[in-house]
Amino acid sequence: MSAPQFKKPVRKAVFPVAGLGTRFLPATKAIPKELLPVVDRPLIQYAVDEAREAGIEEFVFVTGRGKTAIVEHFDTAYELEATMTARGKSLDPLEPTRIQPGNLVTVRQQVPLGLGHAVWCARAVIGDEPFAIFLPDELMYGSPGCMAQMVEAYNEVGGNLVSVLEVPMEEVSSYGVIAPGECRGALTEVKGLVEKPKVAEAPSNKIVSGRYILQPEVMDLLANQGKGAGGEIQLTDSMAKLIGVQPFHAVTFQGQRFDCGSKVGFVEATLAIALDRADMGEDVRKIASRLLG
Ligand code: UTP
Repeated sequence: MSAPQFKKPVRKAVFPVAGLGTRFLPATKAIPKELLPVVDRPLIQYAVDEAREAGIEEFVFVTGRGKTAIVEHFDTAYELEATMTARGKSLDPLEPTRIQPGNLVTVRQQVPLGLGHAVWCARAVIGDEPFAIFLPDELMYGSPGCMAQMVEAYNEVGGNLVSVLEVPMEEVSSYGVIAPGECRGALTEVKGLVEKPKVAEAPSNKIVSGRYILQPEVMDLLANQGKGAGGEIQLTDSMAKLIGVQPFHAVTFQGQRFDCGSKVGFVEATLAIALDRADMGEDVRKIASRLLG
């Protein structure tokens, strides 16, 4: 099933950033979780960079109360730039924060009713085009990036795609899990999807990990989607209804994934990326060895 109508180019991406970030309190009381920096870039910046690399042109942020600073991060900061220029400082570090005027759109999710509801809030901007979704608290680290790998697979099979990774079976209950069908390289056919299953009922240990390419029909399904696991409107439940109706595959990301929604995952990301950085890796390695020693 890879009919041409499910292969329109993916130009738009939704970034749901309206969640409360309760696992990171008190840090996230006044600062959105998506602006917490891993080394010197906020989480949202990693996601936007990954999107740009994959050819995304339009960035749709689903924001809520207290999240305005995320949008401001992508504004031009005249005073800052003028002062830096007057002092002869390079503006290069600001380059990734530039988004073509008109290509950043925000929509509001007034109440955080769940990921599915957040995505549905972007329906008017998405219209009848396929779109990508990025959960910025999942930091996907690799080259090519996760979405670029997914777009490559999309160009082949079209339809709907999720990125997956394997976790120990006892961890599956915190995630969306796929029932895998036929496997070919990094591509796996998706036969079923279930959100936060009990270990005994989980169809596999392949969890959905924060990146999606979906066809616009999912918006109609979300409109009628009731509450699911955890009392939230779950994206997984509407995606599951597309299986068997449209092509649906999973892509196993060739790279590292850090769960920056959790404190330990956040520390892991910071350490791994700092160690990998040409400008500081060696110094950080020395410090880490000393601390461990
Ligand atoms: P999470 O469940 O990881 O984020 O949702 P959270 O709810 O902010 O975090 P905790 O559990 O309270 O610590 C994944 C992504 O979906 C967004 C979040 O902002 C995050 O980027 N989200 C979640 C919404 O935009 N709206 C929602 O109603 C729920």
